[in-house]
Amino acid sequence: ADETPAAAPTGHQHAAAAGAVVDPGVEPFTVRMPVPRVLRPTRVHGDHDFFEHVIRPAEVGILPGRRTAALTFGGSFVAPTIRVKAGRRARIKFVNRLGEPANVHLHGGHVAPGSDGYPTDPIAPGASRIYDYPNRQAATTLWYHDHTHHQEAEHVYRGMHGFYLIESDAEKRMGLPSDEFDVPLMIRDAAFDGDGQLVFDLTVDPAASRLVPLANGKVRPFFPVAARRYRFRILNASNHRTFHLTLGGAPMTQIGSDGGLLPRPVPLTELALSPAERADVVVDFGGAPAGTRFVLDSTDLGPILRFDVTRRAHDTSRVPPVLRTMPPLAPAVREREIVLDLGPEMRTFTIDGKTFDPDRVDAVVKRGTTEIWKIRNATTVFGPVDHVFHMHLVQFRVLDRDGAPPPPGETGYKDTVHIPGGTSVRVQATFTDFVGRYVYHCHMMEHASMLGMMAQMEIVP
Ligand code: C2O
Ligand code: CU
Repeated sequence: ADETPAAAPTGHQHAAAAGAVVDPGVEPFTVRMPVPRVLRPTRVHGDHDFFEHVIRPAEVGILPGRRTAALTFGGSFVAPTIRVKAGRRARIKFVNRLGEPANVHLHGGHVAPGSDGYPTDPIAPGASRIYDYPNRQAATTLWYHDHTHHQEAEHVYRGMHGFYLIESDAEKRMGLPSDEFDVPLMIRDAAFDGDGQLVFDLTVDPAASRLVPLANGKVRPFFPVAARRYRFRILNASNHRTFHLTLGGAPMTQIGSDGGLLPRPVPLTELALSPAERADVVVDFGGAPAGTRFVLDSTDLGPILRFDVTRRAHDTSRVPPVLRTMPPLAPAVREREIVLDLGPEMRTFTIDGKTFDPDRVDAVVKRGTTEIWKIRNATTVFGPVDHVFHMHLVQFRVLDRDGAPPPPGETGYKDTVHIPGGTSVRVQATFTDFVGRYVYHCHMMEHASMLGMMAQMEIVP
C-alpha cells in the first residue's frame, strides 16, 4: 500500500464493501429519538469512579428496519454517555475489540498526555488501557472519540463518538433544567448505500454526499417533550459539516459552549455549530399547548428533529441572568501566529506550511504560562476554505475575530473554533499542570486525519 502519510487513507478494510450513495428514503418524524444510555461505573471508591468500556464493531439500528455495521463504544452508534462530577477522578478501562488499533480522546478534557489519545499512541487490537481523567475543570459538555493516526476520520464517522458530561453541585444549584429535562443531542450527517451501510468515500465531497441528518443516531426522529424548559446539549459530531440550526423562528437561549456555561444567557433564533463544537441551549416549550410541534431545522440538510409537545408539566427550572463570572485574563507572555493553508502540491492542508509529523515539535510552550495564538486561515489559490481549529489540553478564550469582539456565544471557554477562509481568530490559553506533547488540528476530520492538517505542541517545565 502507498504509505504517504499525508494522503493515504488507510480505511480500506471498511470501505471495501460500500456501494454508491443512495437516499435511504426515511419518512421524517416516524421514529422516536433515543437518549443515549448512561454508562454505569463498575466501582466507586473515595473520589475515584471506575468504568469499563469495550470498543467493538456492532450492528446498529440507524435506518428503520435495517442493520448497519458500525464501530462503537459499547455497542451503540451513539456511545453511552459518561457522566462524572467535577473534582472526582474517572479511570476508564477501554478494551479494544475492534480488530485493529483504536484509541480514545476526551475532547475538551484537561488530561495528562498518556491519557489524551495521542494519534500514534493506540490501544493494540485485543489489548486494553486505562485512561485517567482528573475532571479538574468546570462542569461542561465534552465528548469522547477515536483519534488513531489516519483512522480517526473513518472511525468517528462509523460511530466512535459519545458524550462525556462533567457536572458540579454549583451548577446544580443554579436551577437549570436537569435530569430527564437535560438532554444530550448529537447531530451529524451521514451517507448510506443501497444496503443501508454507511459510506465513507474520500473520492467525493463529504458535504455533497453526506446528506442524511442524524439526531442521536436516528434519521429525522421526533422527540416528545413536556410544556416546560429543556436543556439540550447539542454536539455537532459531523466530520466535516457546519450546521446552521433554527427552531422555525422560535426563541432559544444558549447558556453554554465547549468549556461550560457562558457568562450570560444568549437569546438566539439561529445557531451555527461546526464539527466538534458544543452549544448548551435552553428551549422553553412552556405555554405551548399539547399537540404543538417545533422542528429543529437546518439550512444545510433541512429538518433534523421534531419536538412534539405532548403534556403539561410543572416547571421550577430557571435560567439565571448571570451564569458565570469570567476571571480576568492572565497576562500573556507570548503571541504566536499559526497559519492554515493548502499545501503547495494541492493535495494536503497545512499548518505553518507543514503536514503532521509526530516526530516534530511545532510549538514549545512553557508550563504555567499564558499565550495568545492568532490563527490565520489564509486564502488559498482556490479561494477561501473554512477550517475548524481545535487545541488539545486547554480551554481557551476567543479574544477577537479579525480584530472585532467575538459574538456572545463565544465569550465563554472554547476548545474548538470555526475559522472562515481568509479570516483570523485570536485565542488566549493558560497551559497549566501537564507537560508533554499534545496535538492541535483542524477538526474537519478528513483534513486532520488524512490531509495532514495537524501539528503538535510540547509543554515543558
Ligand atoms: Cu476532537 Cu484532536 O480532537
Ligand atoms: Cu480543515
